[in-house]
Amino acid sequence: MHENTKIVSRSVLRDVESASQMMRRFFRVTKETMRAMAGYLPTMRIWWAKKMLARHIWLDAMHADMLRSRALDLRYPRIDVDENIDVHLIHVLEKLPVVTSDEQFIIRVYRVIKPAMLQSFEKYMATSDPLDDAPSHVYLQRMINELKQELEEFDEACTRNGSSGGFDCVSLEQEFKAIMESCGGTEGPDQEPGAEFGDYLNQPEYVIPLEGGRDTSWEPAVMQVPPRAPRNIKEKLVWVAIDHANEVWAAETPAALIWQYKKAPWPMILDASRWCYDEMRHAMMGVERLEALGLQAGIDTPMVPDHWRAFSERGIESLLLLLHGLEQSGPRHKMNLRKTLSEVNDFDGAQDCDYDWADESGHISFGLAWIKLVFPNWSKEQIMSETRKICEEWSEWIQRRHREGTHGYEKFMERIEDKCS
Ligand SMILES: [Fe+2]
Ligand SMILES: [Fe+2]
Repeated sequence: MHENTKIVSRSVLRDVESASQMMRRFFRVTKETMRAMAGYLPTMRIWWAKKMLARHIWLDAMHADMLRSRALDLRYPRIDVDENIDVHLIHVLEKLPVVTSDEQFIIRVYRVIKPAMLQSFEKYMATSDPLDDAPSHVYLQRMINELKQELEEFDEACTRNGSSGGFDCVSLEQEFKAIMESCGGTEGPDQEPGAEFGDYLNQPEYVIPLEGGRDTSWEPAVMQVPPRAPRNIKEKLVWVAIDHANEVWAAETPAALIWQYKKAPWPMILDASRWCYDEMRHAMMGVERLEALGLQAGIDTPMVPDHWRAFSERGIESLLLLLHGLEQSGPRHKMNLRKTLSEVNDFDGAQDCDYDWADESGHISFGLAWIKLVFPNWSKEQIMSETRKICEEWSEWIQRRHREGTHGYEKFMERIEDKCS
């Protein structure tokens, strides 16, 4: 090139090496925060926040998936195994769910990490070439839009539920901001937090609770299945809605797997995040139907983690088996319900079941893949017999309480009969 040749340079230059490092860091922050949200989901008692977490776990898992694929595009060959590079960040985020209140967890995620991620994504867009690095821009633009949406949903829910006070604790926010910055924050480079962060880092590991938390405004309950058959069409609709509303445990189960099996192959974690959100949607369908029928879930009808109550002492693996076992009959059951509900002109309920049925078909393959991961030595026959066995135990658990009158349904039945009369 002639020494006098003048080339007009683009204003932003970022080489592939630095771009892939940023994508890898963004992937780690997004994935590990999502894992912490999944781990905390069963503990969360605030109902609106629990619903919000399930939705955002799935959105964030999709973001992590895009970031992961972009990091791999950019000549980064070992994204899932090469964790040593972000070891301090991972250590900090592993302690994210170790909190003393739901509010503290929410502050860490929604007041510190998500706003910081949004800022970093916007900064990356401004400091990288929109042509050379176009795929990153496409992914990041979608993530920016969805992160803004997540933060808006959080703000709206706070305002709607009148609980903004609990989420405006500046000292908790500042404290966690400092912890995040101590390890290099959302952009890195990864660094060892100073000794002053030892109290945070040396806390005991977060442990999944034995029972999923339920909103403190709800009535304590023993079980969800009513102790008698419905006596009229309205009761029949209520019975279906109670069953749907109580699928919260089924959202908590894949969420707990995401936390507990951190080395699971990435595509299985991504599937589990969708599974978690689907089940929470199913629960929300039930709560909405109850509302339409004039009943308030948790007050007039039970909202209770009874499946976990019965089996969680045997480990989350037993709940995976139970969920998979019950899901075997899911599509047929929901298909029949769709027909039954249409026949009694409950078209909203029928549509819920139609979409639920579509979701359930996917869950059967997610469940089988997870069982194979968790019990690698089990044959197909063993998987079938173990799932059948735990489903039988579950129905015995229910029947025993009905038989012995220890179902705790008296107050609910009174309210339901009152509303259905
Ligand atoms: Fe479901
Ligand atoms: Fe399902």
